Amino acid sequence: MINKIKEHLKKLEVLNAFTAEEIEKIRIEYLGKKGVFKELMEDFKNLDNQLKPEMGKAINELKNLVQDKLDHLKSTLNTSGPKTASGIDLSRPAGETEPGSRHPVSLVRQEIIEIFSRIGFTVSEGPEIEDDWHNFSALNFPEEHPARDMQDTFFLDDDQKMALRTHTSSVQVRVMENSKPPIRTISPGRVFRNEAISARAHCIFHQVEGLYIDKDVSFADLKQTLLFFAREFFGEKTEIRLRPSYFPFTEPSAEMDIYWGLNSEADYRITKGTGWLEIMGCGMVDPNVLESNGIDPKIYSGYAFGMGIERIAMLKYQVKDLRMFFENDIRFLKQFQSSH
Ligand code: PHE
Repeated sequence: MINKIKEHLKKLEVLNAFTAEEIEKIRIEYLGKKGVFKELMEDFKNLDNQLKPEMGKAINELKNLVQDKLDHLKSTLNTSGPKTASGIDLSRPAGETEPGSRHPVSLVRQEIIEIFSRIGFTVSEGPEIEDDWHNFSALNFPEEHPARDMQDTFFLDDDQKMALRTHTSSVQVRVMENSKPPIRTISPGRVFRNEAISARAHCIFHQVEGLYIDKDVSFADLKQTLLFFAREFFGEKTEIRLRPSYFPFTEPSAEMDIYWGLNSEADYRITKGTGWLEIMGCGMVDPNVLESNGIDPKIYSGYAFGMGIERIAMLKYQVKDLRMFFENDIRFLKQFQSSH
């Protein structure tokens, strides 16, 4: 009898079950009416009285072990839940996944697009690899203009015919080629310049440029549109000013500043003590550009503007180093939540 018990003990050690039915089968095998214990008890009855205490103890121990085993098997079933045939448990609670957040450059880009869409601007996009015509020549860049220099532009071939676009004005050339005025469009996109990377500059950044061409478009229209944008984006009391500037493709040209204020030490630093911050370049489309693109400058006039998204995002979110936008550090990125 003791050998029988020992055998059962051994068997119990390697016993396993994966379904409720299998566990039930084991239970019946041991504890059922015709089970192992029933049989052991029959034997027990016929034992010598002397042996009974020792055997009774052994039987009880075996019974406890069987019960423990059954409990254990049941508990593994409960935690892993019902399993499919493939062993994958579809009912298990999923691990926590943190929802991602939009990149700050993406958020600002979207906000700029939304503001201009409200006043009738469409969105146009174009290739990042451009030819000389679309990036420079059609925009009235003279042959010897320094922007064509290797210093500023990533050319893709030795004879400088193809380059990574240096601005999205190239997209506007494509729009002028393919449509007739009135044209009212903005072109957001990635641009490339051969510049040293620093806290304020990067060789890759993003722009939104705008173009409006129609009959009788004036500088006053430009100024009013930019004022509208500045107030929508930076707040309704925002003041702007336009300073004369130069771009090959606009005449007259200007830089637009917004009044940032001089309330903190940081304000003095970022505005260089003036309170004003430069936001974008703009101007009236040069008649040469209209002509190069098949638009009669005697009938039509237009304005254009262009801004760097990172620069605007740095102001909006008070980010001091432009490089952070490109590092993809999750601790930086997860601070920007969007309502979009
Ligand atoms: N294309 C100019 C730039 O990249 C910006 C600009 C656009 C200026 C349109 C004037 C008019 O800096």
